[in-house]
Amino acid sequence: FGRSIHSFETIDSTQKEAHRLAYNGAVEGTLVIAEEQTEGKGRLDREWHSASGKGVWMSMIVRPDLPPQKAPQFTLITAVAVAMAIEDATGITPEIKWPNDLLIKGKKVSGILTELQAEADKISSLIIGIGMNANHEPDDFPDPVRQLATSLYIEKGEEVSRALLVQTVLKYFEKYYSIYISEGFDPIRMLWESFAVSIGKRIKATMITGEIYGKAAGITSEGVLILKDDQGKTHHIYSADIEHF
Ligand code: BTN
Repeated sequence: FGRSIHSFETIDSTQKEAHRLAYNGAVEGTLVIAEEQTEGKGRLDREWHSASGKGVWMSMIVRPDLPPQKAPQFTLITAVAVAMAIEDATGITPEIKWPNDLLIKGKKVSGILTELQAEADKISSLIIGIGMNANHEPDDFPDPVRQLATSLYIEKGEEVSRALLVQTVLKYFEKYYSIYISEGFDPIRMLWESFAVSIGKRIKATMITGEIYGKAAGITSEGVLILKDDQGKTHHIYSADIEHF
C-alpha cells in the first residue's frame, strides 16, 4: 500500500478521486492524499470538515477477491489500524464507536468511510477513506463540529507528524488485511472489540426505519452490530447512528 501515491494540495475529495482512479483501473494499494478537501464527505452523505494542512485526508483502493457483503468488515479492519497508529503516535488509546468513529474522551478524532464498486457478486474495488484530525486547534473546527470533535494535537499537547501517521496507518492496515485474508475475521473482531466503547453499554440506534434502545452485545463475524433491545429481542444492525447513555 502506498507504492502508488496521488498527492494533492487541494482536491474536491480524496474519496471521489480514488473512485475515479479505481474506475480507470488503478491497482490495489493506490493511495490518494490531500492537504485540503473542498468537498470532503462523511458517512450518510454528511459533509466532512477538512481544514487545510491540519489533518490526514486519505483514501486507499483495495481489491479483495471477495463478495460485496464482506465490505463492512473493512471498516473495522481499518478502524483497528487507525486506532493502533494513533496509539503509536500519541501514547493515547482511542476508543472505537461502531462502526467507524474513533474517539478520545468521547470526542471524534477520526472517521472512516468505506465505499464499494462491485460487479455482479464480486467486489471490484473498495475505496476506504480515512479522515484524522491531527494538528487542529479548537478554533480550526467550525461550529457545531467544535463541541463534538478533537484532534491529536489538542489531546497530546504536541504536534504530530502527519507523514508518520499515514505510514503507520498503512503499515497496520497491510498487517491486519493480510491476517484477515489468511485467518479470517475472528482475530480482527477480537482486536476491534478491545478498542470498542459500545459493547456492553446501553445505546440508542437510529436507523431510517426507526429507533431501538437496548444493549450492544457485540459484533457478528460479519462485523454487524448485535443489539439486545429492552424486551430481550436480538437485532442485527447493518447501518445506524449510535448514541450512548
Ligand atoms: C465519517 O466519519 O463520517 C467518515 C469520514 C471520512 C472522511 C474521509 S477524509 C478522506 C476521505 N475523503 C472524503 O471525502 N472522505 C474521507
